[in-house]
Order: sequence, then C-alpha cells, then structure tokens
Amino acid sequence: MLEAFAPFHPRFVHFPIALCLVGAAFIALGVWRKQERWTGYGQISLVLGWVGILAAVITGLIDQTFAPDDAAVAALLNQHITAGIALVVAVGLAIYWPIRNKKLWQTSAKWGYLALLVAIVLLVIVEAWLGGKLVYQYGVGVQ
Ligand code: HEM
Repeated sequence: MLEAFAPFHPRFVHFPIALCLVGAAFIALGVWRKQERWTGYGQISLVLGWVGILAAVITGLIDQTFAPDDAAVAALLNQHITAGIALVVAVGLAIYWPIRNKKLWQTSAKWGYLALLVAIVLLVIVEAWLGGKLVYQYGVGVQ
C-alpha cells in the first residue's frame, strides 16, 4: 500500500542540501565581513536544514525498504546512511556551538567553527553524490 506512493525521499532531499549550503555560506560571509546579521541568517538556515535532514533520514529509511536486495546496493546504502547520520550530528553541533558560546565570532574558536562548516559542505556533497549513484547507477527508487 505504502509502496504505491514511493519514492518519498527524493521529494525531501533538496531542501536540506540547499539550506545547509546557503547556511554555511551566510555564516562564512558574516564571519568574514564581521556582520552578525549574516551569521544569524546562516544559523536560521542551518536550523531549517537540520529539520530537513531529519525528514530526509525518515523518508530515506522508509524508501530503503523498497530497494533491491543486492550486495552492491546495500554497501552503497550503508555509506549513504553513515554520511546522513554524520550530517545530523555535524549540523546539530553547528547549531548548538554558537548558542553555547555567545562570543564565538570574536574568539579564535571561530576557525574551528569554519572548519566544521567546510566538513558539513563536504558531507552534503558526498551524501548527494552517493544518493545520485543509488538512483542513476543502480536504479533504486526507479525500477
Ligand atoms: C540516513 C538515512 C538515509 C537513507 C536510508 C537514504 C536512502 C536513500 C535511498 C533508498 C535513495 C534512492 C531513492 C529512493 O528510493 O528514494 C536515496 C537517494 C538520495 N538521497 Fe538519501 N537516504 C538517507 C539520507 C539522506 C540525506 C540526509 C540526504 C541529503 C541531505 C539524502 C540525499 C539523497 C539524494 C540527493 C538522493 C538522490 C535522489 C534523486 O536523484 O532522485 N539522503 N537515499
């Protein structure tokens, strides 16, 4: 019954990808220009992106139950899930850190934060690439 409406996941993945990339760019811009307005916009974008990641994880876990029973697909799915969970943790930390340290942008800890943003951007790229491989190389959610 549920399968008739699948795949769900592709309808949700674009929001977190866009919001996390825009959020990271806004925060980097805010730190560079020393304008907390931009870091604030970036933080809001990351919060929305994190909610989007949760929606992507839930719908992805549903869709993977319809994936073909194939060892190569299972291996790729495991990598995709690992990167997805890493994103939940990394973006969660990027939201929590400035709340915990109100003077983050004025201290050298901001460089650690920018490194975290770079890691998030790389994780988003890897996650989307692995998802694309699932669909376009193995036909998951298509066949
Ligand atoms: C961690 C749990 C996740 C699971 C179990 C999962 C599972 C899947 C599955 C089964 C597919 C193949 C298409 C389908 O049947 O829906 C897929 C594709 C994809 N996934 Fe995930 N996913 C997860 C997390 C994420 C996250 C967090 C993102 C992005 C932030 C993401 C981005 C993508 C993209 C871009 C595609 C390709 C969609 C397309 O080209 O139509 N996934 N994923």
